[in-house]
Amino acid sequence: MTTILRGNIIHAPAFGALETIPRGFLVLEDGVLKGLYPVLPEKYRSCPAMDYGEALIMPSFADLHLHAPQYPMLGMGMDLPLLEWLDTYTFRTEARFADVDYARRVYRQLAWDLISSGTTRAAIFSSRHTDATLILMEELERAGVAGYVGKVNMDRNGGAAEEGTEESLSETLRWLENCRFDLVKPILTPRFTPSCTDELMAALGKLARERDLPVQSHLSENSGEVAWVGQLHPDCSRYWESYAKFGLWKDRTLMAHCVHSDAREQDAMAEAGVWAVHCAASNVNLCSGTAPVRELLDRGVRVALGSDISGGDQLAMNRVIVMSIRASKIKQIETGAPFLSVPEAYYLGSTAGHVYFGGGAGFQPGHKLHAIVADDSQMPAPARELTLAERFERTVYLMEKRHILAVYSEGVERLHSAGQPVL
Ligand code: GUN
Ligand code: FE
Repeated sequence: MTTILRGNIIHAPAFGALETIPRGFLVLEDGVLKGLYPVLPEKYRSCPAMDYGEALIMPSFADLHLHAPQYPMLGMGMDLPLLEWLDTYTFRTEARFADVDYARRVYRQLAWDLISSGTTRAAIFSSRHTDATLILMEELERAGVAGYVGKVNMDRNGGAAEEGTEESLSETLRWLENCRFDLVKPILTPRFTPSCTDELMAALGKLARERDLPVQSHLSENSGEVAWVGQLHPDCSRYWESYAKFGLWKDRTLMAHCVHSDAREQDAMAEAGVWAVHCAASNVNLCSGTAPVRELLDRGVRVALGSDISGGDQLAMNRVIVMSIRASKIKQIETGAPFLSVPEAYYLGSTAGHVYFGGGAGFQPGHKLHAIVADDSQMPAPARELTLAERFERTVYLMEKRHILAVYSEGVERLHSAGQPVL
């Protein structure tokens, strides 16, 4: 079936690029984008159309790092650095997800909050609990959020959230057997090197190879953590080697943070095709630092953005994008590295993540539509008429849920202006 969307089309098809089509047309065939047109071709004139008027139609967001079982502690516990924060608040909060009813409640809310904030693809850490992880995947699928979810593996230094090595492996297999979802796929998730014994890491590396599974974890987030990894793996000269020696460092591995990754570690990422997931708000909240995003990009590392809920306090990816711009300005003050422009940061928070999952670069024909429709008419009245690029910038900075008229994920409308999920 052919459908037409009309509005002010804005997208970032390449890093740093911004294309605008005023009052343009998106033509969809069964949810797949066929073309973008400033004027609707004759042959489509009789097709059903959705006219969004002066609203902006932009690619939706992709959040490549967040912890679903930390959603209940969002906006709290910001008084400790990473390792103390994990021990004091985080592991305890995650331990609650042994309770499947609790998990259902929290994850239903999270899935709805994601889609209604315009996040349509995500790479998510669950807790160590298999049943709660399957519930999370179910709720995401129901809401229309696509991507990866990982049952967390952690068999040491995890307090109440920890599991035994054997249990960690057998539960991972049970989880994989029960992953039968269309939009949401499994990703192996060793929490980070200090949480996993060598035996567990080796078994996960083997599983990743045998079943060709993707991997996500944390890398060089905090200086205390980096020093700890050095003590646990004295044979590794850099943190990344503690993943590489177990076969977990490979094409499309997602590594969150990379705040303290030096040139050698960055080169190892570029060479292997490992992605850096930049989580600017979390890095400030947990006193980790500011990641060298420009340097990573210049060295050829693929970069995407993550909210890192709940080290990060903002689920809405436009706020994460803005935070990454702010962090890059601090970095410029410190090192002279040019800060991220709005189109660059938007690319990292939308297109980069979509491309990671095999989606299109911006509104690229041949891919299922992932888009939001934003109404900026209630934002402060401007002193003069704004260009579409200016309206785009202001929308990235100011957009709240109430401005989002519609969200399309995998070519299907999942949210419309009545503010209800389309289930
Ligand atoms: N490193 C290991 N676990 C975590 C976590 O839950 N959050 C963050 N930010 N870093 C981690
Ligand atoms: Fe994290």
